[in-house]
Amino acid sequence: MNSKDRMYDVGGVLLPRPFKARRLGHFALWQTDLEMARRLYVDLLGFRATDTVIREGKPVAVFTSHGTDHHSLAAIHASTAEGVRKAHYEKGIFVNQISFQVGTLEEVVNAHEYFEQRQIYISRLGRDFPGSNWALYVLDPDGHRIELYYGMEQIGWDRRSKPAAAYIQAVRNGFSLPQPAEMTEIMSAEQGGVDLDSGFRPAEDLPYDYCVGGVMLQRPFKVTKVGPVNLFVSDVAASEMFYTELLGLTKTEEVHYGGHRCVFLRCGTDHHCIGLFPLALRAEFELNASTSLMSIGVQVAAYRQLKDAVAFLREKGLRFIDAIPFDLHPGIDYAAHAVGPDGHCIQLYHSMEQVGWDGRPRPAAQRRRVEPDWPQTIEGLPDACADQTFQGPLG
Ligand SMILES: [Fe+2]
Repeated sequence: MNSKDRMYDVGGVLLPRPFKARRLGHFALWQTDLEMARRLYVDLLGFRATDTVIREGKPVAVFTSHGTDHHSLAAIHASTAEGVRKAHYEKGIFVNQISFQVGTLEEVVNAHEYFEQRQIYISRLGRDFPGSNWALYVLDPDGHRIELYYGMEQIGWDRRSKPAAAYIQAVRNGFSLPQPAEMTEIMSAEQGGVDLDSGFRPAEDLPYDYCVGGVMLQRPFKVTKVGPVNLFVSDVAASEMFYTELLGLTKTEEVHYGGHRCVFLRCGTDHHCIGLFPLALRAEFELNASTSLMSIGVQVAAYRQLKDAVAFLREKGLRFIDAIPFDLHPGIDYAAHAVGPDGHCIQLYHSMEQVGWDGRPRPAAQRRRVEPDWPQTIEGLPDACADQTFQGPLG
């Protein structure tokens, strides 16, 4: 058995890598105007603010979430970029992180050794607050930072984040195993006199004016997932090798568009969580010429919500574009692309094709064709409403 064929024991299952990226859990961008980012993520898209990091009296990071994870979408102030990452930022890598959840803390540690042996640039191994997640960060060939994390803080029914007083020391340069359970830390904080109810809880000052499936919400839609992340890359083959061979994502399909090869990769049953597009396509779509981010996806809970989201966001001043062709979002039928005030494209959609045990996507000829005038209702395909259910109330 050569080293390429080596298998690793991951929780008793033999896999080709000592970790498995299970889902795209969160995403962050470098931003220069955090208040603008907060308005976009929170006021317009409906993510909930969960924490803001203040340094020397100024906010340097805004964390938001659509669910129980402490964060699923974050904005980090570009002034905090240092070293290699600052250099990448200055070349248009505005992605701060694309973050995948793994199953155990052991997988984070073993992934570190795995990437180190393969001489991949390692940005950090440690534990961050807020969020409390343990993480390994590596850079892809263009400098997009990829995180593999374990143990994201979960926020419950009262929407209150963990108080900063309950944080333990951030870990920056490696750690040993085993580590205590989260609950052990929380009990220890409580015994030390920390008021566990003193964490941040966002003010909900917008009116609850929209009926969504029988519940009054602040917007006519609810974001239920982040991703896919579509990237313009300088060498599609090199990036494909990184994301498949090293990170362990699976290629679902590739699309040839105007002579350009575009690759769609998945980590679970969603058709794709990462799309790789050659940089040359960026100009064709008249997208922001200074960023490698083609789009960040946000899924809403239903087709009707997608229609209503477009109308709502348009009314609130978001600019929608028709530049991205249907063929470049395989697995997603009805989608709308908006450009945020930060110049980044947001891909809104309602449903993602599911890929089953045999790994085969739906043949392109059998995919739903999108009507130019979006109909009131659409036919329920066999995998309609079959992906992960959103847990908990919508608002
Ligand atoms: Fe992260």
